[in-house]
Amino acid sequence: MAENLQITGKSKEERYASLFPQIAALVEGEPDLIANMANVAAALRQTFDFFWVGFYRVDGEQLVLAPFQGPVACTRIRYGKGVCGTAWKEKQTLIVPDVDQFPGHIACNSASRSEIVVPLIQNDTVYAVLDIDSDSLNSFDETDRIYLEKIVALIG
Ligand code: SME
Repeated sequence: MAENLQITGKSKEERYASLFPQIAALVEGEPDLIANMANVAAALRQTFDFFWVGFYRVDGEQLVLAPFQGPVACTRIRYGKGVCGTAWKEKQTLIVPDVDQFPGHIACNSASRSEIVVPLIQNDTVYAVLDIDSDSLNSFDETDRIYLEKIVALIG
């Protein structure tokens, strides 16, 4: 991923800054959650060439796979399990620089090396999470957290 950023000459911050208004325009006036999740996953994957970008929706005590871009993934994740289930439980964004160091990380694909999970919250309740996986270590930082939290707030 770092190589791609250098090739295009655009920093992560610049990419998010130009992507954000595009996503805002894309989801504006569209109330369908699944449609918006599908376009957001596609836009993020296309912009950053992430290994996997997708959503899980809360269904009872589990997360269930929702629109995504990338290789096939685990279908269900229990509350408090893995990075996704932990972000749900803690109601906060989790940045995992090295998935092998995260106790209980769920390896849907062995190529995944680092990860960020952003909960979608309404009325203090998590109703979905956005999960992004990278095949490089240390891919995610505060810039990702800030912009991704703004992006998921658009589709609620
Ligand atoms: N690694 C995640 C599982 C979802 S996949 O990465 C798509 C986790 O530990 O929750």
